[in-house]
Amino acid sequence: MTEQATAAGEPLLRPLRQDDLDRVLQLELELFGSGAWTHGMFVEELRAPHRCYLAVEVDGELVGYAGANLGEESHVMTIGVAPHARRRGYASRLLSALMTEARRHGATSMVLEVRADDDGPQQLYRRFGFEPIGIRRNYYQLEGVDALVMRAELAPLG
Ligand SMILES: CC(C)(COP(=O)(O)OP(=O)(O)OC[C@H]1O[C@@H](n2cnc3c(N)ncnc32)[C@H](O)[C@@H]1OP(=O)(O)O)[C@@H](O)C(=O)NCCC(=O)NCCS
Repeated sequence: MTEQATAAGEPLLRPLRQDDLDRVLQLELELFGSGAWTHGMFVEELRAPHRCYLAVEVDGELVGYAGANLGEESHVMTIGVAPHARRRGYASRLLSALMTEARRHGATSMVLEVRADDDGPQQLYRRFGFEPIGIRRNYYQLEGVDALVMRAELAPLG
């Protein structure tokens, strides 16, 4: 992915880097609380093969990030947008870019887990063609919350 200059207030979508991790960990705690990933988990993910991790930056501030494990069935690993930057389409940009990257890697489907009790993200995913295919009981163990597993078919890149 190439980085392009953006006008003031315009979002820049770019690869997530290791030097973003202080900011990402701050957001992780704010967004996911006890389920937040650790620094080590992010470092491992950023080093692992077949991964795509992206950031959205606005006026130099990282306001969102997302990542996927790319394979024939790709897996959305995480997606988060800072509370003050929501409903501006940033998660949609991130998800759309991950889906395109997955298709480039030959993926035919994409899956993810989402809190069964959180309708907001589910609505986002439905917009992108994800449909519920099952429940993982107690997936978010610390909070005792189930995950809804959602899956989208990916069309081959034309
Ligand atoms: C879920 C999340 C990533 C959405 O980020 P966002 O940048 O606000 O999402 P977008 O602006 O791209 O939303 C696109 C569409 O998704 C749906 N959507 C997103 N958030 C929603 C919410 N809280 N409630 C209802 N619909 C929502 C809407 O249809 C929205 O379009 P609209 O704003 O025109 O109505 C963000 O709320 C977040 O970080 N939440 C906490 C972390 C989390 O739950 N991550 C998902 C883990 S599975």
